[in-house]
Amino acid sequence: MRSLKFIFYSKVPKMKIVKTIDELKAYRSECSGSIGFVPTMGALHNGHLSLIQKSTSENDHTIVSVFVNPTQFLEGEDFHTYPKRTEADIKICEFAGVSALFMPNSEEMYSMCEPSLCAPSHKAYILEGLARPGHFDGVLRVVLKLLNLAQPTHAYFGKKDAQQLYLIQNMVKTFFLNTQIIPCEIVREDDGLALSSRNVYLSSSERQEALLLSQSLKVATQKIIAGQRDTLSIKASMYEVLKPLHVEYVEIVNRDFDTISTIEIGQSIILVCAKVGTTRLIDNLWI
Ligand code: PAF
Repeated sequence: MRSLKFIFYSKVPKMKIVKTIDELKAYRSECSGSIGFVPTMGALHNGHLSLIQKSTSENDHTIVSVFVNPTQFLEGEDFHTYPKRTEADIKICEFAGVSALFMPNSEEMYSMCEPSLCAPSHKAYILEGLARPGHFDGVLRVVLKLLNLAQPTHAYFGKKDAQQLYLIQNMVKTFFLNTQIIPCEIVREDDGLALSSRNVYLSSSERQEALLLSQSLKVATQKIIAGQRDTLSIKASMYEVLKPLHVEYVEIVNRDFDTISTIEIGQSIILVCAKVGTTRLIDNLWI
């Protein structure tokens, strides 16, 4: 992986590490001005760093959360083995000029008896949600809690998790939350691999195979540049590239996540998900 690129601050103000909700509320009540918020599950990489740097450059304060959220993992998924790099995460946030790092535990975030949240099924049980039913209920539940706690003016989410981003934007609008959601560009390795905390699961040969995802998106781009707009034809050429992999889906949707038959420039997203070894990888291209 490429090394993390820091903007060094001559005088880095001391970052507060906050573990409890009471501490976060106390910290938040002392902040004035704009607050940027970057929710993460830790094991921070250049993709997270780009969100953090966007937030620090656009806001008076930046809060980052590191919380591996149990409710968004399904039975048998990698909740217990999800990569943890607490010390490195703290250093990355410190150097990036983060004002407060919120690192709660599950007891702090969840109680035994609490109302749940259901993501709209026709948008949350397709694509990622088809393979991971209930995943987005858990994502929305924790993001709602985190937004309520951090009360940010702006919250930063990567376009790589395009369906998550759409559902969060929809939730913020539906529940009249006072936070502006800022979509951030996908960060890639030099060879095109989209950054993900789960890339650490790939062996070196699997990492090579994983490049087929971004290569299939490149082929789609070339077809679109050549004038192709028919999504069936574009998907067929992507499947051709992805042949060696176990493809879960290739889909082309509009910005409301409805499947489309004709690409509209500025309105479409091409999504791909494939398994490389035992690792599920996703990638996408916003057209
Ligand atoms: O994208 C992620 O890392 C997680 O889904 C999020 C938004 C931090 C919620 O746990």
